[in-house]
Amino acid sequence: MMKPIVVAHAGVGTPNRHKDGPAKACRQALRFLGKGRSALDAIVAGAMVLEDDPRFNAGTGSYLRLDGVTIDMDASLMDSNSNFGSVIGIKNVKNPIQVVRQVIDSPHVMLYGDGATKFAYLMGIPEYIQRPTSNVKKMLLRARQRLKEGNPAYYARKWRNWKFRKTILKELGGTIGLVLFDGKKTFAAASSTGGTSYSLPGRVGDTPLIGCGVFAGPAGAVTATGVGEEIIKKTLSKEVYLKIAAGIPPQKACEWGVNLFDPRIPIGLLAVTREASGSAANQQMAKAVVPD
Ligand code: GLY
Repeated sequence: MMKPIVVAHAGVGTPNRHKDGPAKACRQALRFLGKGRSALDAIVAGAMVLEDDPRFNAGTGSYLRLDGVTIDMDASLMDSNSNFGSVIGIKNVKNPIQVVRQVIDSPHVMLYGDGATKFAYLMGIPEYIQRPTSNVKKMLLRARQRLKEGNPAYYARKWRNWKFRKTILKELGGTIGLVLFDGKKTFAAASSTGGTSYSLPGRVGDTPLIGCGVFAGPAGAVTATGVGEEIIKKTLSKEVYLKIAAGIPPQKACEWGVNLFDPRIPIGLLAVTREASGSAANQQMAKAVVPD
C-alpha cells in the first residue's frame, strides 16, 4: 500500500514564515483522505483552508482589481480520472474551489462571471460579501502608485507604454495551490486566486485554464503560481506534467519549469507522483508537504 502525499503552497512571493498555512491545508486534505473521501474532495478541503486564510491571495484574501472595487476570483481542479472544472471571475462566494467541485458534477466544465455566482447559490453555497483586507488595500495602492510613476514590476512591463495606462488610473489598485496523491491511484491538482496586482476587471489568468494553472493525469499532478499571462503562453502545468510522465523526477521537472522564465517573472510550481513530490520557485513561496 502506498502512502498519500499532499503538497500545498500559498503563492509565489509569500514569505516562508507563512508556511503554517500550507501545512494546515495539507493536514486537512490528509484527514479527508483518512476518512475515505475522494482525492477531489480531499484537495478541495485543503484548498478551502488556504482560501479562508486572509494572508493569501485567494478566497477571503483575494486582491482588488485596479478599479479599486472589483474582486474577481478564478479557481480550478483536475484529477487523473479526467475530471476538470473551473470558475472564472466569480464574486461574492467564500470558497471558489467549492463551486468548482460542483461544476465538475454539472454538465459543464467552466462557468464565468455572474453565471458562475448564480450557479454557486443554486448549489446552496451562501452569498459572502468580501471586504478587502488591509493588506489587499495596501497592495492596490502600491500597484497604482507604480503604474502612475510608469514603473510597474518587471512582469507587468507591458503596462509601461500602454496608451490607456493613464486613462485607467484616472477612472479609478498570488494564488494558492495543492497537488495530491491519494495513496491508491488518483492524483489531483487545485488552484485558486484573486489575480495579480496589475489586473484590470475582466482579466483572466492561468488559474482556471486546463494545462496552465493545473494538470493531472495517470503519472501525477502539477499546479503553477505566478504571472498568469506568462504561464498561459507556455501551458506550464501540462508541460511539466509531460516531463514527469516521461520519467523525470518531480523536483527536476519543477526546476525545469521555473527555469523557462526570466527570473524577474515570479513563477512557482508543485508536482507529485506516486513516489515523490517536488517544488520550485524563483522567489520565496510558503509551502508544505505531508509526509515531510
Ligand atoms: N497565477 C494567477 C494569475 O495570474 O491570475
